[in-house]
Amino acid sequence: MHQYSHSSSAASSSPTANLAPAALPRQKVVVLQGDGIGPEVVAATVRVLDAAAAPIDWEVSEAGASLFARGVETGVPQDALDAIESCGVALKGPLETPIGFGNKSANVTLRKLFELYANVRPVRTLPGIKTPFSDRAIDFVVVRENVEDLYAGIEYMQTPNVAQCLKLMSRKGCRKIMRFAMELARAEGRKTLHTATKANIMKMTEGLMKQAMEDLLPAYPDIAGDHLLIDNCAHQMVIAPEQFEVIVTSNMNGDIISDLGAGLVGGLGVAPSANIGAHAAMFEAVHGSAPQIAGKGVANPTALLLSAVMMLRHLGLFDHANRIESAVFVTLAGGQDLTGDLAPKGQGVSTNAYVDRIISNLGNALPGVAPRTYSNITLAAEGDRDLHPAVRELVGLDVYVDYIGDVYELGQRLTAHCADSDWQLKLISSRGTVVYPETNPNTDLVDHWRCRFVARHPAIALDDEAVQKLLSTLHDQVSWMHLEKLYRFDGKDAFSKAQGEG
Ligand code: NAI
Repeated sequence: MHQYSHSSSAASSSPTANLAPAALPRQKVVVLQGDGIGPEVVAATVRVLDAAAAPIDWEVSEAGASLFARGVETGVPQDALDAIESCGVALKGPLETPIGFGNKSANVTLRKLFELYANVRPVRTLPGIKTPFSDRAIDFVVVRENVEDLYAGIEYMQTPNVAQCLKLMSRKGCRKIMRFAMELARAEGRKTLHTATKANIMKMTEGLMKQAMEDLLPAYPDIAGDHLLIDNCAHQMVIAPEQFEVIVTSNMNGDIISDLGAGLVGGLGVAPSANIGAHAAMFEAVHGSAPQIAGKGVANPTALLLSAVMMLRHLGLFDHANRIESAVFVTLAGGQDLTGDLAPKGQGVSTNAYVDRIISNLGNALPGVAPRTYSNITLAAEGDRDLHPAVRELVGLDVYVDYIGDVYELGQRLTAHCADSDWQLKLISSRGTVVYPETNPNTDLVDHWRCRFVARHPAIALDDEAVQKLLSTLHDQVSWMHLEKLYRFDGKDAFSKAQGEG
């Protein structure tokens, strides 16, 4: 790793270099240059922050494709990981995951390694950027849970023809992201928060997110919280985006609607983001490594620069953040010296010329556009909020079976098989829909069946011994590949019913 010099000509020639409050302690930030246009947009961003005399010592490291090629499995060198661990802040260029070297994404590795559970993506109408929504006062932030949900990456081919991906969401994870979003709303002076879920269909997983909002709202009487379905949220974001201030979602939903948000205000080239955890934070542009324009000196650094503005606020450097943000807005509104992706055709300038223009605008602000008032986010420890039910009853067993044949034959056979046991076959379902004992002729059948067994009489108390007895004979009958015990916690079913189950 090397360090950027702070006596660069850009910094010393900056009109605002002498305005830095002398008393501010210098803070270390790890910079991962990344792939493609990464080194170019990183260098541009560092130039602007240095010119604004942000009191930061940069520790620059390679990351991404070159590291994978050298056999570094995470794509990030260990000394950079150690440095992030010790200073807690990283600014990151886009990283490629080259096909053929390892199979991990360096981006996902970093998120998981540092438990960066909150992905924050501001969506705001930018001056001078023409979009179909330019005349709308859009200013909201998407807070997306970043480590759980379908992105836990737990997948199985359960049969040769049916794939499963586990959607794992925890009460703790939902509460953490919800508390973060509420604190962020407060820190940014926002008054409303929308939780967008698919809790009407996924009552347990997505339901936990809705529940987290309902549980935590009483502690935030200054915030009006509301719930809406994620599909309606996407619709509302297009027809009335001004209504939103903070939108909280689970991982996959947030992935999609934050890109939709970026599209509303000018696209990925100007979309910043932050990944925040309890011990570390990483700031990055939303866009990728744009290999087509890498090395040409024409990349637009705005997205990374606005990510760095978020980083400055995270570091408590609010004045520096506001000054740089204002200079970017003045530059964009002025419409001169913009990179090719923003300028009228044929009038784009180099990354360096754009950065020169931003630096020359440090200290300027658009008339009538005051920066939002930000303050530090303080997160109370979540503590042990896990539920500990007093009564856990085992009430059934779902046995997932790999079988090609007549479902009626399978149902009859399994019914007869357990006739003398504590169990009875209640139903068989295909991808969630009951197909035995009743069959809907329209349901397509595949080689993947869920056989739901329950107690033969309500008086029978099921336990692990009963489960083992059933399984010890069942393997003669079917090829099962997965089991799920059905519990009732404090009298409440802890499993969903199949479509069509009584
Ligand atoms: P991309 O964002 O790199 O490019 C999409 C389009 O936007 C291209 O036309 C590109 O030239 C343009 N573009 C992107 N950023 C720009 C900028 N700053 N200035 C001017 N034009 C810009 O997306 P793509 O092509 O899907 O991905 C390329 C690589 O980046 C892939 O290897 C992907 O895995 C990686 N990637 C990394 C991300 C990260 O590190 N967070 C995020 C997204 C993709």
